[in-house]
Amino acid sequence: MAAMEKEIFRIRFKQYFPDVFRPLKLLYGHREDFQKHLRNFLTIVAKGYAQRPKELRLLDLHRVAEPDWFQKSDMIGYVCYVDRFAGTLQGVVGKIPYLKSLGITYLHLMPLLNPRPRPNDGGYAVIDYREVNPELGSMTDLKNLATELHHNGISLCIDMVCNHTAREHPWVQKALAGDQKYQNYYIMFPDRTVPDQYERTLLEIFPDFSPGNFTYYPEIERWVWTTFNDYQWDLNYQNPLVFGEMLDIVLFLANQGIEILRMDAVAFMWKRLGTDCQNQPEAHYILQAFRALSRIAAPGLILKAEAIVPPDKLVPYLGQKEATNKECELAYHNSFMVQLWSSLASGDVTLMTHALQQMPEIPTGTSWITYIRCHDDIGWAISDEDAESMGLSGILHRAFLSDFYSGRFPKSFARGATFQHNPKTGDRRISGTLASLAGLELALETENWQALDLAVRRILLLHGLIFSFRGLPLIYMGDELGLLNDTSYLDHPLLADDNRWMHRPFMDWEKANEARDWTGLTGRIYKGINHLIRARKQTHAFHAQALAFAVWTHNIHVFGLIRESPRGRLLILANFSENVQTVPRYRIHDMKFKGQLHDHLDGQNYDGSSDMALEPYQTLWLESMGKNQ
Ligand code: GLC
Repeated sequence: MAAMEKEIFRIRFKQYFPDVFRPLKLLYGHREDFQKHLRNFLTIVAKGYAQRPKELRLLDLHRVAEPDWFQKSDMIGYVCYVDRFAGTLQGVVGKIPYLKSLGITYLHLMPLLNPRPRPNDGGYAVIDYREVNPELGSMTDLKNLATELHHNGISLCIDMVCNHTAREHPWVQKALAGDQKYQNYYIMFPDRTVPDQYERTLLEIFPDFSPGNFTYYPEIERWVWTTFNDYQWDLNYQNPLVFGEMLDIVLFLANQGIEILRMDAVAFMWKRLGTDCQNQPEAHYILQAFRALSRIAAPGLILKAEAIVPPDKLVPYLGQKEATNKECELAYHNSFMVQLWSSLASGDVTLMTHALQQMPEIPTGTSWITYIRCHDDIGWAISDEDAESMGLSGILHRAFLSDFYSGRFPKSFARGATFQHNPKTGDRRISGTLASLAGLELALETENWQALDLAVRRILLLHGLIFSFRGLPLIYMGDELGLLNDTSYLDHPLLADDNRWMHRPFMDWEKANEARDWTGLTGRIYKGINHLIRARKQTHAFHAQALAFAVWTHNIHVFGLIRESPRGRLLILANFSENVQTVPRYRIHDMKFKGQLHDHLDGQNYDGSSDMALEPYQTLWLESMGKNQ
């Protein structure tokens, strides 16, 4: 290695060692062999650095020089399944022009490392983290794709399934054969005594098809911790060998050209008796240690937390107190997503405004992932406290939302389905594509032109909001074409019991072609989203460092959001109702938007001293012009 590269390593080592040491000491400092494990982790990092390809070392230098690269307003994400989007990884290369013309700069490919045969929870049950699912291609294909994407200005994100492995993983196989070393990689008990104690405070993730959190394995006469499905074995991070193995994989993937790792199900990584075993402090230390260690070897890599947890538990994944800016750079804003759907059903933005106002600010070096739909169901994460402070009953409102989006509620425009009804809590989650939930499916079925127009407006309204909120927006594949629910999964015996497949359709390339004709329905949706993307990219004040506060507009149907930073000050107004709505001029004036107001979306100027009228489901991105600000 050249002297300069060794020096770079030394500089980074010195810079990050305190951030490495602090969480690791908290995790493993009580062990006599702590120093030995620490040395092992640092050896893994040195190896990761030594093996890092030259082109990626250059990328590291760029990223270090421009640490806010993922926070800029020109970042637009897209998420898809490789097979459903383009067949194989090589197929994805061929689709780069499509992604580019849409304006994509970040591509999340759903789980693609070698999974167990189906059922495999959509790939979230991995057998080999160093091999690609052979149906999709090889590790070389993945590497080539990452390079091609990078040359086209697109950063690649993949899943790091870090909470559990598949039952068919070699570690499990050795554990099942009685190897004590590998039994210690997982969490297991000889009888039900301890599992029963844990179960008292644990929740069930899949109460329908995988009740309980433990599975009995007669081969070893043990109850094994399996939070999700019985074939997904939770890893034991109390064992530092497990941390070392996963660190090695993180760096291996970074060295293939992966720029963002989506850290799956991170809330569950540490168990503590008497708790729900989610969001434990140690789960945060694990992430902080992964980050600090990977910064030394591969600072081009950033981490995205997938923690679908209540708002007060979510913000800490972006780093808190001494770990501020030192945990994950990105996290899914599940609460914003849920509130968008809640406001759309009720036509009322008070609960959303209140809930967002309760959320603490996030560290400056981080960003939300804002999204409307993903591959998972929507769980109504609306707290009783938030609902009650707005005069609603939490339980009734959540029941209303499930009824509304499954189409049971009178006059509902949605065509979704309930997922995982939990009779103990009354919770019913929702599956369905964005277009079907927003009314497009019903409008087409009933051939109702007016309903069709409203559905398109809803789709654009929701995109207008994820593009203007504080973060990196993520478009779910097919939403840009208004793809409807896909019922073909029902014909597949290994998918049929999981209705999340209804909103994981195959890409419709014919429709993508139709999108060129902007007079047609698909074209209207595609062009509308494309227009929002272009407008966002040019609005630098949307940088994720700009603060975001939800504001009262004095109209319960119109959501207001202020984005503020030295780059500019914007007022976002979004009408959640089917009728024209007005925001009174005194309110606009009170928020210090005066004089001529320029709308970055339609390019028009409005007079700030008049009431502001919004068409049904219209969004405005307003900025004061001139000296009157
Ligand atoms: C995440 C994934 C979900 C999966 C679970 C277990 O929540 O989004 O699809 O079932 O992790 O890996």
